[in-house]
Amino acid sequence: MHATTAHPTGIDAGPPVLVMGAGAIGCYLGGCLQAAGVPMVFVGRARVLDELREHGLTLTDLDARRQHIAPDALRLHEAVPADIAPSLVLLAVKSGTTAEAAALLGAALPAGTAVVSMQNGLSNAAIARAAAPQLRWLAGMVPFNVAELAPGQFHRGTSGTLAAQDDPALRALVADFERAGLPLQLHADLRAVQWGKLLLNLNNPVNALSGLPLRAQLMTRGYRQCLAAMQLEALQLLRRAGIAPARIGPLPPHRIPALLRLPTPLFRLIAARMLRIDAKARSSMAEDLRAGRVTEIDALCGEVLRLAEAQGLTAPINARMVALVKAWPLRPVPMSAVDMKAALRLPG
Ligand SMILES: NC(=O)c1ccc[n+]([C@@H]2O[C@H](COP(=O)([O-])OP(=O)(O)OC[C@H]3O[C@@H](n4cnc5c(N)ncnc54)[C@H](OP(=O)(O)O)[C@@H]3O)[C@@H](O)[C@H]2O)c1
Repeated sequence: MHATTAHPTGIDAGPPVLVMGAGAIGCYLGGCLQAAGVPMVFVGRARVLDELREHGLTLTDLDARRQHIAPDALRLHEAVPADIAPSLVLLAVKSGTTAEAAALLGAALPAGTAVVSMQNGLSNAAIARAAAPQLRWLAGMVPFNVAELAPGQFHRGTSGTLAAQDDPALRALVADFERAGLPLQLHADLRAVQWGKLLLNLNNPVNALSGLPLRAQLMTRGYRQCLAAMQLEALQLLRRAGIAPARIGPLPPHRIPALLRLPTPLFRLIAARMLRIDAKARSSMAEDLRAGRVTEIDALCGEVLRLAEAQGLTAPINARMVALVKAWPLRPVPMSAVDMKAALRLPG
């Protein structure tokens, strides 16, 4: 999508959509919606909001989008305002802070407000519901990668269609999402879509530990073999549990491990669409490790461990990856593909 710097502010044009957690995903989704004329309110940390106050919000993507929203057109808050009734809330905090953010929303917003979790993992909507049962919690799924490239500049580095649980609040906004360049598919049940995304997200720890941009990491066969092994382990457990993960990208989930294990020249050729990732994209877990923050490993590989446990089984490869990520702060150096395969106990 090509766009200019022109943008409507959307201020005072009806009930706003509220972003809870103005970070990579919150600023990108919220910024695209505001640029398309949807009134937006952003709740975030002073660190990010100060950058937005100074630089405004710039949105870029691999399809040459470049839009800028001036600082004075942004409604920025460090706490959830108690005097608004948003038509929808986009929950975009990391999984570790879901319960806290949900409780803050619950304390400030009218009962019944629809909140869609745009987070990775499977359990965030349920965790949030437990913390604020008076709000209407919906699961969502963001298929693409967003990174903050410069203060206030949020860049989408891959592509895909947003998905969420069907609900009147979202149905009313589908056309706005479309206009914002964020096509959104609604599903009666999002579980299969969330599992499909989670299988892809198993690359997050591989990418984070590699220290490489996504594209460079995926072009290294050893790292792909690690991801393939983690996916195969999860796929076997899903099959036993009778769960059919949805296809998120160009290939059905069960075909991806074989593709990943191909020699790199063949992989490059066959996976051309999958590799439509610009050179800057990294997993957000890489950023968490770099910044010394708690990662989302328990919401990703941890779900595979819980799936195994529910069947009286184990998931040793994913368990080893959880241990590697948790141990990383003790020895914060990038891990080669050879070392990662050895640590996951994969054959040569
Ligand atoms: N980035 C991606 O490419 C991507 C893609 C698909 C899905 N996702 C998922 O989207 C979710 C958000 O990821 P992200 O990369 O956007 O994370 P992020 O950049 O860390 O953004 C989250 C922001 O929310 C802030 N926050 C947390 N609790 C808050 C509160 N109570 N009030 C106000 N602000 C609060 C965080 O501050 P602190 O750091 O101080 O907590 C942080 O600034 C995650 O579940 C992630 O897995 C991300």
